[in-house]
Amino acid sequence: MENIVLVGYGGHAIALIEIIISMKKDVFDYFDKKKSVNDLYSLIYRGDEDGLQDAEKATFRLFHPSIGNNNQRSKVYLKCTAWGWKAPALVHPTAIVSSKVEFPEAVSVFPGTIVETGVTIEKGCILNNRSVISHGGRIGSFSHIGPGAILCGDVQVGSQVFIGAGAIIKEGITIGDRAIIGAGTIVLNNVLPDQKIIGNPGKTI
Ligand SMILES: CC(C)(COP(=O)(O)OP(=O)(O)OC[C@H]1O[C@@H](n2cnc3c(N)ncnc32)[C@H](O)[C@@H]1OP(=O)(O)O)[C@@H](O)C(=O)NCCC(=O)NCCS
Repeated sequence: MENIVLVGYGGHAIALIEIIISMKKDVFDYFDKKKSVNDLYSLIYRGDEDGLQDAEKATFRLFHPSIGNNNQRSKVYLKCTAWGWKAPALVHPTAIVSSKVEFPEAVSVFPGTIVETGVTIEKGCILNNRSVISHGGRIGSFSHIGPGAILCGDVQVGSQVFIGAGAIIKEGITIGDRAIIGAGTIVLNNVLPDQKIIGNPGKTI
C-alpha cells in the first residue's frame, strides 16, 4: 500500500492518522518546521518540506495537507501539488455519504459525519467528527466544518470558512468566504465574508 506523507504534524494531523489507518493506507513520514516530541505514532521526521531538493521531492507522491488552519492548509496544498504530489481524499469508513457525492483532493471526512445527497464539497475541506451536511449544501474550498456542526438543507458555505463545534446553520443560509462561526452558534441570517458570528441567535462580533 502506498505511503501518505503528512505535511504538518500538530493535533489535527494526529486525528487524521486514525482515518488513514481506518482506510488501510500507510503513513510513515511527516514534514513540519519542527520535530514532534512524544509522537504517539512514531512517524519518521523528514524535516521542513521547504528544504527538499528537487530530486527528493520526486521520492514522495501522496500527501495530505494536515493543518487545521484553513489558510495555511490551502498554501501547503498549492505548494505540494505544484511539485506533482497528489492528495487523495481521506474518508473514515463510519461516515455516511450519499452515493451522489464525490470528494475532491485534500478533503478529510471524520468519523460519524453525514453528507446527504446533492451536496458539493470542494477541495481541501475538513468535515470534522459527526458534522452533518444536509441535502443541496455546498462547502467552498479549504473550509472547516467543526465537530457536531449541523448544516440544514441548501446551506452555501464560501471558501476558507470556519464553522465551530456544534453550530447550527438554518436551511438556505449563505456564509461568505473566510467567515468564522463560533462554537454553538445558531446562524439564522446570511453571513458576509470575513464576519465573525457567535451566540444564539448568531450576532457579529
Ligand atoms: C468564535 C471564536 C473563534 C472567537 O474567538 P476569539 O476571537 O478569540 O474571541 P474571544 O475568545 O476573545 O471571545 C470574545 C467574546 O466572545 C465570547 N465568545 C467567544 N466564543 C463564543 C461562542 N462560541 N459563543 C458565545 N460567546 C462566545 C467570549 O466569551 C468573549 O466575550 P466577552 O467579550 O464578553 O468576554 C471562538 O470562541 C470559538 O467559538 N471557536 C470555535 C472553537 C471550536 O469549535 N473548535 C473546534 C475545533 S476542531
